[in-house]
Amino acid sequence: MNDRTSQGAALITGASSGIGAVYADRLARRGYDLVLAARDEGRLQALATKLRAETGVKVEVARADLTVRDDVRRLEARLRDDTDLTLLINNAGAALFEPFAVAEADSLENLIQLNVTAVTRLANAAAAGFVQRGRGKIVNIGSIVGLMPQFKSTVYGATKAYVLYLSESLADELAGSGVTVQAVLPGATRTEIWDRSGRGIENVPSEILMHVDELVDAALAGLDQGELVTIPSLPDAADWGAVDAARAKLQPNLSRPHPAARYGVKVPEPA
Ligand SMILES: NC(=O)c1ccc[n+]([C@@H]2O[C@H](COP(=O)([O-])OP(=O)(O)OC[C@H]3O[C@@H](n4cnc5c(N)ncnc54)[C@H](OP(=O)(O)O)[C@@H]3O)[C@@H](O)[C@H]2O)c1
Repeated sequence: MNDRTSQGAALITGASSGIGAVYADRLARRGYDLVLAARDEGRLQALATKLRAETGVKVEVARADLTVRDDVRRLEARLRDDTDLTLLINNAGAALFEPFAVAEADSLENLIQLNVTAVTRLANAAAAGFVQRGRGKIVNIGSIVGLMPQFKSTVYGATKAYVLYLSESLADELAGSGVTVQAVLPGATRTEIWDRSGRGIENVPSEILMHVDELVDAALAGLDQGELVTIPSLPDAADWGAVDAARAKLQPNLSRPHPAARYGVKVPEPA
């Protein structure tokens, strides 16, 4: 088996633009065969044609609207049953920056379906298939917004906090199974998501915007290094380690038989 065939295949959601399209390019150049999913079949076909010609890998297009359950289920079946698949890039997503009190509930639900429900169902199917086959990688695209409730992104930020929790918890659960998990937390990245969300990329200060190529190259370097949480912008990885350590310090006191003294709750005398 040569290097190319031993990579297996990657399923990338949201591959029609932005971060997903760059993952497709980079993974094809690493020798992965690809399954590209998104709604815009024309863009997926154009990317597939280009990558086949430039790299010689097999590229398949799977049109899917990830807010539609039957479309998600088709990809789930693929992840469970296709023994060539070794990598899921759980990337498709959208943002919404409207204040919570004026946002329409249906838009919020739609966002949760895309950023949470589909991500969960696809990770679940990948975990089942990969564990059975004894190898695989699940990459979930979160956001630094999920760490920062003060960034005024309420539900978008909450969906990304969910992605981080899911990834960390799943990595723990899958330890020793041959299946690894990575959460990638991009900061502001130059893609269509800003215009699609109505914020407009011209409103994002250029000094905080990362080029999408650099973002994906750093995320893949983090994957190669076996990182569970990759924050491409963060200069000192020890800063994330400090967050982790602070949470670990809470652990022994998070579940106790009585409330803390500051609440003034009368605790019954032992019988
Ligand atoms: N750019 C940033 O600043 C930034 C920062 C942090 C995190 N992220 C995350 O990065 C991920 C990729 O976003 P991006 O920045 O690359 O934005 P993007 O260029 O807008 O790409 C979003 C991708 O998701 C797909 N998508 C959207 N709705 C979909 C649906 N209902 N069903 C299937 N696919 C759908 C889009 O394809 P179709 O329209 O063809 O369906 C597109 O391929 C998202 O999860 C986002 O939250 C981005």
